[in-house]
Amino acid sequence: MEAGVRKLATELNRQYADRPLTVLGVLTGSVVLLADLIRQLEMPLRVGVLQARSYRGVATEPGELVVNLELMPAVAGCDVLLLDDIFDTGRTLDELARRLEACGATSVSSMVLLTKVGRCEVEYRPDYSAFEIPNEFVVGYGLDYQDHYRNLPFVAALDPEEIAAGTQ
Ligand code: IMP
Ligand code: MG
Repeated sequence: MEAGVRKLATELNRQYADRPLTVLGVLTGSVVLLADLIRQLEMPLRVGVLQARSYRGVATEPGELVVNLELMPAVAGCDVLLLDDIFDTGRTLDELARRLEACGATSVSSMVLLTKVGRCEVEYRPDYSAFEIPNEFVVGYGLDYQDHYRNLPFVAALDPEEIAAGTQ
């Protein structure tokens, strides 16, 4: 994880240099990455959060996306970086990027720790991604299964039997 986060931070520091940046973490999965990343950023930085969740019928399948921008600072005229834990179908970041552009952001880029290979359902792609992973459901380092496991200091594939059984 550390090497991945360092790589992402280096790219941002190079890209933005001393241009101000607003980083918006997508709750809740991005919180661990957000905390680790921002401490390595050197440009004038604002940090905020917004909420996006897909209601999942089958626990590990994407569902209808619900977005809440009420927690977010004003972004009109700002260069914004959306930060999420994982790019899966891409529907979340695709929709959020549109919404932030509609709010008047000067530019909207996106960054994820992980990209799941072969799952993307949209044309949108994140601008920065540290690691590609196979199509497995993963937890840890902010990623959850029914709000469990976010605190694991590493990322691990969830045992399919545990997915089938659910958590208590
Ligand atoms: P997307 O809209 O399909 O790209 O999904 C993005 C969101 O789904 C992420 O912000 C995660 O919250 C969640 N997600 C997708 N894949 C996984 C996974 O393997 N483990 C945990 N959460 C996931
Ligand atoms: Mg998420």
